[in-house]
Amino acid sequence: MSKQVNIGVIGAGWPAWQHIKGYQKLENVKVLALCDINKEILSKTAKEYNIPKTFTKCEDMLKLKEIDAISVCTPNFLHVPQVIASLNAGKHVICEKPLSVSAEEACKIIGPLKKSKKKFMIAQVKRFANESKYLKKLINNNELGNIYYSKIKYLRRAGIPGIGSWFTTKKYSGGGSLIDCGVHVLDLTWWLMGCPKPVEIFGSTYAKFGPKGLRDSNWSVSKDRTKIFDVEDLSTGIIKFENGASLFIETSWAMNIKEDSQVSCLLYGTDGGAELSPLKLLKYIDDCPNCIEPKIPENNIFDEEIKHFVDCIVNDKKPTVTLEHGIRIMKMMDGIYKSAKTGKSVTVK
Ligand SMILES: NC(=O)c1ccc[n+]([C@@H]2O[C@H](COP(=O)([O-])OP(=O)(O)OC[C@H]3O[C@@H](n4cnc5c(N)ncnc54)[C@H](O)[C@@H]3O)[C@@H](O)[C@H]2O)c1
Repeated sequence: MSKQVNIGVIGAGWPAWQHIKGYQKLENVKVLALCDINKEILSKTAKEYNIPKTFTKCEDMLKLKEIDAISVCTPNFLHVPQVIASLNAGKHVICEKPLSVSAEEACKIIGPLKKSKKKFMIAQVKRFANESKYLKKLINNNELGNIYYSKIKYLRRAGIPGIGSWFTTKKYSGGGSLIDCGVHVLDLTWWLMGCPKPVEIFGSTYAKFGPKGLRDSNWSVSKDRTKIFDVEDLSTGIIKFENGASLFIETSWAMNIKEDSQVSCLLYGTDGGAELSPLKLLKYIDDCPNCIEPKIPENNIFDEEIKHFVDCIVNDKKPTVTLEHGIRIMKMMDGIYKSAKTGKSVTVK
């Protein structure tokens, strides 16, 4: 790498800290500017990470010619407008998950991205775990054969991230546990399955705790509670793909399960099965079922994700998590929400 890559970060909270730490571990990369509407967190984060320029309006930060790339680390409803503004300002962009509050909104990025000729990536961090990459390699080598079913869950017993905050207000978040947590395991599993085209979706959603003010998490950030809760605290869905495969997903912020949380991705193929995380494989060897537990060293998934984004910029590579992937994932989540509302299955166009 020769030329220095200068970064601007929008949003100065926890996700931004992970991006900043990732950038600061790389040679020839400088986090030059930070933006947040909250002056307190802005100055605290800028001081902690030694970021020279601060802004309270992202339009002002985007005027800096020396900034090459932007990390969007703000609440969901700001992702699309801030991604588009950054692309229009001629910057490469990495955007936190979920891409947007709906597939329709996500599609607004297509034009500006094409026009900008810049790199765009969605921060689907789970793809960057060593065990995810190892399993992807095994799948590409056909070790599992044809993967025709997957079963995934991201369940919390009491983990609503701030009742009355933007998280629980549909117009700001796009939804509840599915769009917030489910997107992690849905993206990872769909990618491992080879990104098949979704065709039919059936889903259900429930809100049994949030509307009663119950099961708020102890890490809730929201101070300005409006008490709005118009999203789900449990979702379930079945997605059928064009290649005949199907996927079952369950997500919750609040549910009567015995552990604090249960998170897993199970994939079933004709020649083997796999479970994450930790990675376990089921293979028949000489007619006997064998459970294999590969010893894969853990890595810092945020560092890996940021390293990949910078590598794409510097070496003109296509990011692993594309806009097309993001739109497909949004369509699957939209489908679950729509089906839950109508009580009927949804055909994906
Ligand atoms: N990848 C992960 O594991 C992970 C973890 C947590 C959150 N996230 C994602 O990161 C995003 C932010 O999450 P969060 O809100 O909990 O983080 P947060 O509250 O820690 O930080 C968000 C920051 O954005 C700032 N902000 C709000 N409006 C702004 C604006 N118009 N301009 C500039 N800054 C603004 C807030 O003041 C806040 O400091 C969400 O989309 C969430 O899904 C991802």
